[in-house]
Amino acid sequence: MAANWAPDSWTKAEARQLPDYPDAAALTRATDTLAAFPPLVFAGEARNLTAELADVAAGKAFLLQGGDCAESFAEHSANNIRDTFRVILQMAVVLTYASKLPVVKLGRMAGQFAKPRSAPNETIDGVELPSYRGDNVNDIAFTPESRIPDPQRMIRAYSQSAATLNLLRAFAQGGYANLHQVHRWTHDFMGRSPWSKKYAETADRIGEALEFMAACGIDPETVPQLAQTHFYTSHEALLLPFEEALTRQDSLTGDWYDTSAHFLWIGDRTRFEGSAHVEFLRGIGNPIGVKCGPSLDPDALLRMLDTLNPGRVPGRMTLITRYGYDKIEASLPKLVRAVTREGHPVVWSCDPMHGNTVKAVTGYKTRPFDRILAEVRGFFAVHRAEGTHAGGIHAEMTGQNVTECTGGAIDVTEQSLADRYHTHCDPRLNAGQSLELAFLLAEMLNEEMAERRKAAA
Ligand code: PEP
Ligand code: CO
Repeated sequence: MAANWAPDSWTKAEARQLPDYPDAAALTRATDTLAAFPPLVFAGEARNLTAELADVAAGKAFLLQGGDCAESFAEHSANNIRDTFRVILQMAVVLTYASKLPVVKLGRMAGQFAKPRSAPNETIDGVELPSYRGDNVNDIAFTPESRIPDPQRMIRAYSQSAATLNLLRAFAQGGYANLHQVHRWTHDFMGRSPWSKKYAETADRIGEALEFMAACGIDPETVPQLAQTHFYTSHEALLLPFEEALTRQDSLTGDWYDTSAHFLWIGDRTRFEGSAHVEFLRGIGNPIGVKCGPSLDPDALLRMLDTLNPGRVPGRMTLITRYGYDKIEASLPKLVRAVTREGHPVVWSCDPMHGNTVKAVTGYKTRPFDRILAEVRGFFAVHRAEGTHAGGIHAEMTGQNVTECTGGAIDVTEQSLADRYHTHCDPRLNAGQSLELAFLLAEMLNEEMAERRKAAA
């Protein structure tokens, strides 16, 4: 257990990106209510995820983390949850087949409601209002009342997270995740896609492998694992009053866990030295992530790792790098060398989204798909050169057919962004782009594995 730590010890440190609630008594009422609610996840599940991530850190598995930039109260439908879950499973099948490694599936779902912002205010047509900070803080509508932080929103975020998690658990365990079914979706989807030829070979081979297994008597009827999967949840631990209220002492071990999700991460804007967010995450037993952007120097990272994982527990730490396609190859090696030299066991995961946001001529925030892919290629190239495992991907994505990131095989142009631009915050990959990313990742992982086999021979 962390020394000199309590669920509220963060309140003595510098907190950035937290809302100023105008009514302190209303905030206390909301957090007291949350503190009396049941946990959303069980500490044992978080420990299982740590064990799975330890395999990733050891080069024996791959991490796939994806979902909305920001979940919203307005788009809380079964279809939305199902479609994102389905694409994550499809990506996982492609990755598992290519790499022959287990894929750890982690949704940015069931709690991803708080957003850090670059500017505290937003100006439209000369009117300046506080920025939208996610649905569990204020409302996206551009009116003065909507932008006032309302603590009751945390109660709604809790309820929505519980309902989403319930459905995800049902999908993961109840038969929806059947491997044959997942492959059939990919197959059907590819039939309609102009890029199907490019990836048909991989898809066909997966189909053949499944048929071969079935012929040997290995199918979901005989091996129930083929009809089920482990699926975990995660979000940025940004809104600390909410996270504190859901932090509970595990009755089995006596350790503290943030029971709002299995995995929590610290954003690039709140990971500075002395940060309240680092102080909070230091004491929870969950596996945690840290976003690593261009401003993070290697010594600061090492000090942070000593703070967050003094026991060097494998699987505890995931470093999510987000440099931008043109910076990653120059900047990432410094971090990788420092961490390797000090012997910190970490999962290296690539967020190719947040360093590649641009403004389209039409005014929309977008991310060119080719830059996203270029950052992923850079990430793999660095890890190959350093002899470390390119362990994971962190993507903002949805199962819906949105037009938010430009490019991809079914080309989204700057002009067509307006067609289905639905995100509450950053632009997401749509279902087709996500799957295309998976096929490209598969190629790169395949190369990494081939190289490893060569080195071992
Ligand atoms: C995010 O993941 O939505 C985010 C804001 O990322 P970052 O902290 O890396 O900017
Ligand atoms: Co984002």
